[in-house]
Amino acid sequence: MNTNGQPWTDDVGDLIQAHGGMILHHGNTYYWYGENKGVDNYRNAEGVNMVPFIGISCYTSPDLLTWHHAGIVLSEATDPTNTLTKESICERPKVLYDAERGRFVMWCHYDTPDYKYAGNLVAIADNPTGLFQVQRVLRPNGKESRDMTVYQDGEHTYLIHSSDMNKTLYFSEMTPDLTDCTGFNAKAFVDQEREAPTVFHDGDWYYTITSGCTGWKPNPALFSRSHFLFSNQKLIDNPCVGSRARTTYDGQPTYVLPVNGQYYLMLDHWQRFDLKHSGYSILPIEIHGRDLEIPWTDTPFGGPIQ
Ligand code: GAL
Repeated sequence: MNTNGQPWTDDVGDLIQAHGGMILHHGNTYYWYGENKGVDNYRNAEGVNMVPFIGISCYTSPDLLTWHHAGIVLSEATDPTNTLTKESICERPKVLYDAERGRFVMWCHYDTPDYKYAGNLVAIADNPTGLFQVQRVLRPNGKESRDMTVYQDGEHTYLIHSSDMNKTLYFSEMTPDLTDCTGFNAKAFVDQEREAPTVFHDGDWYYTITSGCTGWKPNPALFSRSHFLFSNQKLIDNPCVGSRARTTYDGQPTYVLPVNGQYYLMLDHWQRFDLKHSGYSILPIEIHGRDLEIPWTDTPFGGPIQ
């Protein structure tokens, strides 16, 4: 049984390597995509403490409790463009299903070892377990993109990305084939330095939950709400409670997962000098009127999933 805040293990007892990830529900299966950081840290030529790029892993589950490693679905070996190397930064993978074309599209934060390129990598697969083939590396609408997520709102899909030296979060509309951005975008939280974005919608409100920008070190999460995705985004409060609220329970948001009408916040608990042992937690989001509260629970999902 996995415990929130700790490293988690898969169905054969190996450490789950799916950091900065997300869970996609497709058919009867849940697919957990994330960064495979399953080797030792080192200091790269730029002096950045990191792990070499191994790939993006996918784990499958019928019930969100037991996870089976379906393998590395994006790696140097599966990249026909030779964009990915051991030194590449490829973080926070998010996968969308393109029903019209019957294919899966992965967006990641793609970067040079010094984190100065600040763009995205887009990869496509016919099956959810890959293998994903890199289509392109881009800066969305010519803008920087570091921490990012994706969000589907009816027929529209958006890339939400920290930009302008992480000072601003952009909501950028994607093209219908989900491999580029249209140029239609909006800024949120200008000069507020928010990253690790997550987005969901409940009732009349769009909510985002973000972290501050302190690298691997934890800081207070904040939620915002707005009637519109593209305007009036306003930071409201920290949804965490209790003595560990100021460090988001020593975690950082990576995705909001809806299951049967309940929303769950996925957190990474980074171990910055030993990234492969970084933990995970999945916490139920309580909605009280217009406000969010996310109490700590040791048990993933706060207990049995309803
Ligand atoms: C964090 C970010 C992580 C990773 C890290 C590198 O701010 O959320 O995804 O990029 O910085 O220091």
